[in-house]
Amino acid sequence: MRNYKISIIKGDGIGPEIVDEAIKVLNAAAKKCNFELNYKEYLMGGIAIDTTGVPLPQETVDGVLNSDACLFGAIGGEKWDTLPRELRPETGLLKFREEMGVYANLRPAIIYDELVNASTLKPEVITGVDIMIVRELIGGIYFGKPRENDGFKAFNTMVYTKPEIVRIGKTAFELAMKRDKRVCSVDKANVLEVSQLWRDTMNELSKDYPEVTLSHMYVDNAAMQLVRNPKQFDVIVTGNIFGDILSDTASMVVGSIGLLPSASTGDKTAIYEPIHGSAPDIAGMGIANPLATIVSAAMMLRYSLNEEKAADLIEESIKSVLKDGYRTKDLAAYDAKEVLNTSAMGDVIVKYVSR
Ligand code: NAD
Ligand code: IPM
Ligand code: MN
Repeated sequence: MRNYKISIIKGDGIGPEIVDEAIKVLNAAAKKCNFELNYKEYLMGGIAIDTTGVPLPQETVDGVLNSDACLFGAIGGEKWDTLPRELRPETGLLKFREEMGVYANLRPAIIYDELVNASTLKPEVITGVDIMIVRELIGGIYFGKPRENDGFKAFNTMVYTKPEIVRIGKTAFELAMKRDKRVCSVDKANVLEVSQLWRDTMNELSKDYPEVTLSHMYVDNAAMQLVRNPKQFDVIVTGNIFGDILSDTASMVVGSIGLLPSASTGDKTAIYEPIHGSAPDIAGMGIANPLATIVSAAMMLRYSLNEEKAADLIEESIKSVLKDGYRTKDLAAYDAKEVLNTSAMGDVIVKYVSR
C-alpha cells in the first residue's frame, strides 16, 4: 500500500482545532483511496516557546525535512507578543519557511457557487472568481538586512535579487500556462527601486512565455481592483509583504478568511497552511472554520503526494457539504441550513468523503 510520512504542526490558538479536523478528513480520504498516512507531530510557535524555550526547535526542522509533506495550522498570540523578536512565534515561522526553502506560496482564492451570498461583495462581482496569488515567501522586506530598532530609529530593508525574482516569476508563468494564461505582476515600481528590478525582470522573463499575457499593477491599485472587479485577475505574482496583504483581501472576496488555503513550495519539504492566523479571539470556542486547513490538506495530497483522486474527493465533498447548507459560524448568516461547530464540520465532511 502507498505510504506517506506527514509532519504535523498544530501551533497555537485555533491551530490544534483546525488541524485535528483536517487529519480526520485526510484519514477518511486515505481509507477510501487505499493509501496510508503516518503522522508525526512537531512543535512550533508559542507552544514550542513554552515547552522548549525556542519558537522553532531543531527537532521540528529535522522531522519535517524527513517527511513527505507538512501540514501546519497557525501560530502566535498575545502571550508571546512582548518577547524579544528572535524569540517570537512569528520569527519561528519565518525561519521555518526559510529552512524549508519554500519560496513560492500559492494562495488560491476561488469562489464556491454555494457561497456567492457570503461575501460582503455583490454576487455579480464575485461569481466565477478564480484567482491564484503567487506570493514570494522567503525574501523581500521580511528577511532583508539591515534591520534594526534602537528605540529612536527603526528600519527594515526590502531587497530582492534578480534570481529570486526569476524563480518566483517562473512559478507564476508556469501556473498561468495551465490556467487562463494571464499574469498580473503587482509592485510599487513608481516609488521603489526593488520594484523596478521586479518589473524589469518580469518583463524579461515574459519573453520565454509568449502565450502568457503579462500586465503590471501598482499594489495600491491592486488592492482596490481586487474588491472592485476581482474577475479581471487570473494569476497574481507579487513580493512577500504585498502578497500577505492582498491575500487577506482576496479571502473576503471569497467570503471568509477561514476558507483560504495555501501551499508553500520550494526546494525541500512543502508546507500546507491556511492563510489565516491563530485567531486568538475565537480560540477554544469551537467555532473556527476548518475549511482553509482541510483544503490545504487536499492541496498536499495533490501537489506533494500525487494523490489526485483523494484531493478531488475532499474538494467535491466540501462543495456538497456547502450545497447542503452546512456552515460554520463565520458563514452562518448566509443560506445556512445548519450551523456547525468546528468538529461537527469536520465530521460531516468525513461522512461525505466516506460515502
Ligand atoms: P487572524 O487571521 O488570526 O484573525 C483575523 C480575524 O479572522 C479574527 O477575527 C479571527 O477570528 C478570524 N479568523 C481567522 N481564521 C478564522 C477561521 N478559520 N474561522 C473563523 N474566523 C477566523 O489574524 P490576527 O488576528 O491578525 O492575528 C492573530 C495571531 O495570529 C497573531 O499572533 C499573528 O501574528 C498570527 N498569525 C499567524 C499566521 C500563521 O501562523 N500563518 C497567519 C496570520 C497571523
Ligand atoms: C501569513 C502570516 C505570516 C506572514 C506572519 C504570521 C509571519 O500573516 O502566513 O500570512 O506574514 O507571512
Ligand atoms: Mn498573513
